[in-house]
Amino acid sequence: MSLTKNLLQAAVMRSLRMAPPLPLVFLLMTAGAFGAEGSVKYNQQEICALKGSTVFMNGTFTHPEGLTVTKTFWVIDPIPGVEPTDLSKDPDYSSRVGFLTDEQKRFSLKLSDVMKKDEHWFCFRIITNEEKARWTGVPGVQLRVTELHVEAPEEVTEGQTADLTCKTTCSLTDPKFIWYKNGRPLTTKTIKNNQLHLQTVSSEDTGSYSCAVGGSQHLSSTAHSLRVRYPPKRVSVSISPSGEIVEGSSVTLTCRSDGNPPVKIFSWFKGSTSVGEGKTYSIPNIRSEDSGEYTCQSQNDHGERRSTAVQINVLYPPKRVSVSISPSGEIVEGSSVTLTCSSDGNPPVKNYTWYKEGGTSPVGSGHSYSIINITADHTGLYYCEAQNDHGALNGTVMVTVKSRW
Ligand SMILES: *[C@@H]1O[C@H](CO)[C@@H](O)[C@H](O)[C@H]1NC(C)=O
Ligand SMILES: *[C@@H]1O[C@H](CO)[C@@H](O)[C@H](O)[C@H]1NC(C)=O
Ligand SMILES: *[C@@H]1O[C@H](CO)[C@@H](O)[C@H](O)[C@H]1NC(C)=O
Ligand SMILES: *[C@@H]1O[C@H](CO)[C@@H](O)[C@H](O)[C@H]1NC(C)=O
Repeated sequence: MSLTKNLLQAAVMRSLRMAPPLPLVFLLMTAGAFGAEGSVKYNQQEICALKGSTVFMNGTFTHPEGLTVTKTFWVIDPIPGVEPTDLSKDPDYSSRVGFLTDEQKRFSLKLSDVMKKDEHWFCFRIITNEEKARWTGVPGVQLRVTELHVEAPEEVTEGQTADLTCKTTCSLTDPKFIWYKNGRPLTTKTIKNNQLHLQTVSSEDTGSYSCAVGGSQHLSSTAHSLRVRYPPKRVSVSISPSGEIVEGSSVTLTCRSDGNPPVKIFSWFKGSTSVGEGKTYSIPNIRSEDSGEYTCQSQNDHGERRSTAVQINVLYPPKRVSVSISPSGEIVEGSSVTLTCSSDGNPPVKNYTWYKEGGTSPVGSGHSYSIINITADHTGLYYCEAQNDHGALNGTVMVTVKSRW
């Protein structure tokens, strides 16, 4: 619309506004030399509508007796002295407007799919059988068009409060604001007028917020993303490969943690001893000494948090197999001795097999091996084979039987 037209319009309005008390009644216009006056009364002077919605502009009119109304229609931004265009003939409006009048001289304009460019003064015009007796109800109804817009911080820190405001550029009539988070209506939060109040922000409040007004849910605002800064959470450690860890293999611990800003600092502890830094902690060629409780500590600008401990249990075949003889000291023919085998191993050794040097088959099994009424023939090297799921190892002991003679 041209600026001059708007300015002219504004001038017309101003002059009319100065006229006596100004309720909802606006009189006259081109009453002509007849002095005949009609009146046009609108129910509202100003309408604030949501873009895309349908609005009604309603009112009533009168006309001097003796005249016959031949035509009524709506126009926008009339300029004095210029015959205005019937909106239903305007290509911008023809498909979106509907005019209604009834016996009681009530009239109504229905405008659908309201657009920003519809921000005009809408006026009802009456044509009578008398050439000079035509009226336009000025200034008319001012249409304002708004979209909903969420005004809120982009980012808040956990624990703070945050207010999200559903903004409009004009005042909607009795709007009931509805808020959505990630497309779902929010029912549990405090909604006051056009504000959504988040009292104590938590990381769960991160999301995409939009607002709408009741009755026009389909005309919601565009979404606004709210990010929440928070210290690390849900710190967890995973072990790869999973399952049994056997000595000599390689193991990698990986730390995962949620946090905003994302966690970039990870520290590793074995028990209370710091052992490394970084998202992963690798132990190539793992030893039994590496068994223990490991924790990961993750840290960002807002704090730090430790994972619960993960247990690393390094399995290994028997080692340090030793055999003891009881009683100790000289072994005399006819006495009894017991050989006891001990070893380290994980899982602990439960299977011990006894061999005598030179023999191919075992002479016994079990943790200890007893020889009763020992003879010189028993003299020799004895083997204790300690075995678990991961291997076997021999321990040896020399048994020397002393002859009585
Ligand atoms: C205006 O009139 C239309 C039809 O005549 C009606 O449906 C609507 O409710 C009215 N609106 C107002 C605000 O009076
Ligand atoms: C114990 O070791 C012997 C010899 O290697 C083997 O034959 C036997 O199956 C093992 N027993 C168990 C229970 O592992
Ligand atoms: C011990 O062995 C010897 C020689 O084999 C035998 O003569 C003796 O009777 C045995 N003693 C016992 C208590 O078995
Ligand atoms: C232990 O010694 C016995 C007897 O010499 C032998 O048969 C066995 O294979 C040995 N075991 C290991 C693990 O070396």
